[in-house]
Amino acid sequence: MTASLTIAIDGPAASGKTVVGRMLARQLGCRFLDTGLMYRAITWAALEVCINPRDAKKLGRLAQEQPVEVRFQEDGQVAVLVGGRDATLHLRDPRVEQAVSQVSQAAGVRDALVASQRRLAQDGPIVMAGRDIGTVVLADALVKVFLTASVRERARRRHAELEAQGDQTTYEEVLADLQRRDKVDSERKLSPLRPAADAQVVVTDGMDVEQVARFLMALVARRRL
Ligand code: DC
Repeated sequence: MTASLTIAIDGPAASGKTVVGRMLARQLGCRFLDTGLMYRAITWAALEVCINPRDAKKLGRLAQEQPVEVRFQEDGQVAVLVGGRDATLHLRDPRVEQAVSQVSQAAGVRDALVASQRRLAQDGPIVMAGRDIGTVVLADALVKVFLTASVRERARRRHAELEAQGDQTTYEEVLADLQRRDKVDSERKLSPLRPAADAQVVVTDGMDVEQVARFLMALVARRRL
């Protein structure tokens, strides 16, 4: 059994899971975990030792031998370590970005990460975001939300974020990358991206972050009555 206040937020890349999840966790006074960071960390560790992202066997062994550890910080951010080595600064490296969808298909990687995500949920209230939280990791979560938006809207938001950071990536490049990731995440064999049968699907086109967070808070309040 997981702790009583568990909130699962799933959805495709750039659907706003992280920003909304963090906001919700702050309002509820609980931890927030973006599980994508754990898949990114193991991808970084695999690339460091030159494991081919398609070699599911070696990836599974790595995930077993070098556990991914999440440390929650005071400011709501997390540090992620693999086998004791800090991966936090490498999670958005372009080579990690490129390989992570492939690495996250390895059964051994998924088994190891799902087990540690469940252990983290047992430690107390948590908002967890990912692709398979409502369907697999926390199938008994109190609230399950599937956040989505059209791929063009998600590309527009992600492009604006990158532009604000001075990144030169074009809108077309962002759009193509999201289309590629949507395809891999939803067509893979293990835990493909899809809403849980009992998830509330929220289409966020035309909504800002505060509106989405308010909507989710209302869902949580209703479930806690
Ligand atoms: O959310 P993100 O872009 O940081 O996720 C990185 C990759 O990890 C993405 O390709 C899907 C995968 N992932 C997953 O398979 N299951 C999760 N719970 C979270 C992420």
